[in-house]
Amino acid sequence: MNVPFVDLAWQESQIKTEREKRFADVIERTAFVMGPEVEQFEEHFAAYCGVKHAIAVANGTDALMLIYAAAGIGPGDEVITIATTFIASVSPLLHLGASPVFVDIDPTTRNFDMEKIETAITPKTKAILAVHLYGDMPDMDALKNIADKHKVMIIEDACQAHGAEYKGERAGSFGIAAAFSFYPGKNLGAYGDGGGITTNDDDVAARLRMLRNHGGVKKYEHAIVGFNSRLDTLHAIVLDEKLKLLDSWNEMRRSIAEAYEKGLSDITTIKIPARAAGVQPVHHLYMIELPEGERDPFMNAMRGKGIGVGIHYPDPLHLTGALSGLGYKKGDLPHAETFASRIVSIPMFPGMTAEQVTYVVSSIREYFHV
Ligand SMILES: Cc1ncc(COP(=O)(O)O)c(C=O)c1O
Repeated sequence: MNVPFVDLAWQESQIKTEREKRFADVIERTAFVMGPEVEQFEEHFAAYCGVKHAIAVANGTDALMLIYAAAGIGPGDEVITIATTFIASVSPLLHLGASPVFVDIDPTTRNFDMEKIETAITPKTKAILAVHLYGDMPDMDALKNIADKHKVMIIEDACQAHGAEYKGERAGSFGIAAAFSFYPGKNLGAYGDGGGITTNDDDVAARLRMLRNHGGVKKYEHAIVGFNSRLDTLHAIVLDEKLKLLDSWNEMRRSIAEAYEKGLSDITTIKIPARAAGVQPVHHLYMIELPEGERDPFMNAMRGKGIGVGIHYPDPLHLTGALSGLGYKKGDLPHAETFASRIVSIPMFPGMTAEQVTYVVSSIREYFHV
């Protein structure tokens, strides 16, 4: 049997008819950038996340860049986050002359060790970046208490967490603003790069709308120095059609996660995901932690059986070449380092069949001789 790591063709089969109709209309009008389709998607996405504003942009990395810029983060400023995230969570900070400050993870929740955040706060700290990695979320109450006490902003990197909830509130509604990626493989993915920002702050929303389009909302009027980070119209159509199905697709991901948990939890040598209380995850990725030294043979064995696997991400950011100038060294974040050396992501996508899930579970059980 073949089980790909992710299958986007199934998603296309669910939206094809309506998507084709709407694509034909745009192509006939030759109106390819922004326009009413983008505005419509923004309205729908804001309502979905339970916020006042959604601003569509070109990709998730730009979403973060624009948020940092709109929040006034600049030279010398610091933003606290975790080192197990994707580099795009922090690379825009470096472009703005600011720096990430990494704190270690809690090995159980696989997100912030809350105890470590306060000691990392300095007079230069402007924000805490909550990364909702793998479709999970950190303990947002604890984070908010720390942020309020020290008068720093919360920014959300919700690039992997479309629809995730903490105590009934959706990701994207907790901080000054939240970044989403609509990269094709994400829970809500375009047919190319795409991104979005959500916020409840009217002023921040207005600034973001200018920043994404050369610093103005009207053509050739530039109130501030901006970027070109607009969303293409065809992507907005794909996203708008997929958004209608997102809750049911996230539900499918939860059923797969349940089956994995049921099928793997008795294998004592591996660790399956756990999370902070109050979180309703959307399982963008499903990652297991293997014993030291087991990852390469395990991945080879799975690939040999036709099962797609990946590592998200192999190098914790404090040890990544591009960030060596920050001055971290091996041993600074022991839990993040151990975690990164042991994780493997196994197939997780809506449309995955029960037979495929059973095959993945039985192949892993067989590998561990249980
Ligand atoms: C946690 C996280 N942050 C940021 C990004 C950047 O998003 P994009 O690839 O759309 O620029 C991604 C996407 O891979 C991500 O997973």
